[in-house]
Amino acid sequence: MTTSNHNRVEVAIDLGERSYPIWIGQQLISNPNTWTGLPKAAAALIVTNSTVAPLYAQRLQSALTAVYPKVHTVVLPDGEDHKDWATLNLIFDELLGQGADRKTVLFALGGGVVGDMTGFAAACYMRGVPFVQVPTTLLSQVDSSVGGKTAINHPIGKNMIGAFYQPQRVVCDLDTLQTLPEREMSAGLAEIIKYGPIADMAFLDWIDANLDALLARDPKALAHAVKRSCEIKAWVVAQDEREGGIRAILNFGHTFGHAIEAGLGFGVWLHGEAVGCGMVMASRLSQRLGLVDEAFVSRLTALVDRAGLPTAGPKLGADEYLQHMRVDKKAEAGEIKFVLIDQPGKATVRGAPDALVAQVIDDCCAQ
Ligand code: NAD
Ligand code: GLY
Repeated sequence: MTTSNHNRVEVAIDLGERSYPIWIGQQLISNPNTWTGLPKAAAALIVTNSTVAPLYAQRLQSALTAVYPKVHTVVLPDGEDHKDWATLNLIFDELLGQGADRKTVLFALGGGVVGDMTGFAAACYMRGVPFVQVPTTLLSQVDSSVGGKTAINHPIGKNMIGAFYQPQRVVCDLDTLQTLPEREMSAGLAEIIKYGPIADMAFLDWIDANLDALLARDPKALAHAVKRSCEIKAWVVAQDEREGGIRAILNFGHTFGHAIEAGLGFGVWLHGEAVGCGMVMASRLSQRLGLVDEAFVSRLTALVDRAGLPTAGPKLGADEYLQHMRVDKKAEAGEIKFVLIDQPGKATVRGAPDALVAQVIDDCCAQ
């Protein structure tokens, strides 16, 4: 359900006793009202990184000081290649060094990397402390901060070590998107575009019509894109919190995308770039299986391109793609499962013959 209150819109994530709100609006971080009603504690820990800290950490620290007697901050190195055990340990070092107890509330201030690692740290520290997501990238506002997936990478596979652990609240301050590099805006658009083919073609039409406004960071367009994305994600997650079934559709483009990320080395392509290209490859595979027509593939490819994302994959070779895809979390007994488009607006999860997948990879990769 979506409601409106003064300066913010609220999308509810309905998960019984693990339910929580997503708040979307402007000037939320510095507003003291944003931080009331959270679990009481003697201390809070802001987890952020070296890029986001100088931009927003002081603002959050000042606002939280009105609520928590002690507020500490730990600054992690920036980048997907730091989404690992060593960096995760810096959070535990800080918590243990400060003598943090099991009521301490963690605040993830940053993009999906900070959010995924903070959530995992919160799930593990003293077997679970509360945490709040304060996503500052477009991708994290429309996807990664919502739904409770937390993880770090392993060199063999992306997000392979983690836990389902829901936050207490998600606070999407749209103003933070104004400082985001252009390439990161495009990466976020990939996850927004994703929601159209899998769930809502009317939203895809809206994105098509409003892409220039989104790229120009028009606050009204951003507010709608974040709200509608969160509504769709909330609808899926409420049906299938731990991905026993329908939640897998949120991984449209990710099977090919994760292979690109792992094949090139994490951080070479942004996650959203790999997903954008992965959606083109998955829709091509859907077309080869007779599920959608050429016009659908062309339309999606053109939109991904206009969003500033790659539409051709790196030439790693079909064997290497297939090898990485077999490590995907959706794979069962070595069989790769793809999220394919059954018909525009509806996704399905199924296998496909290796030879056909290899053909799609060859066709969709740069020469
Ligand atoms: P990111 O966290 O690496 O952030 C992108 C870059 O933008 C970083 O350099 C960051 O420091 C910088 N940045 C963040 N906010 C900024 C701001 N307001 N202004 C200027 N710079 C800013 O990348 P991301 O795209 O946010 O997230 C990608 C990660 O999310 C991947 O690790 C992916 O696996 C994960 N993910 C998780 C889920 C989930 O459900 N948990 C879903 C999708 C993606
Ligand atoms: N981003 C995929 C999921 O949350 O399930």
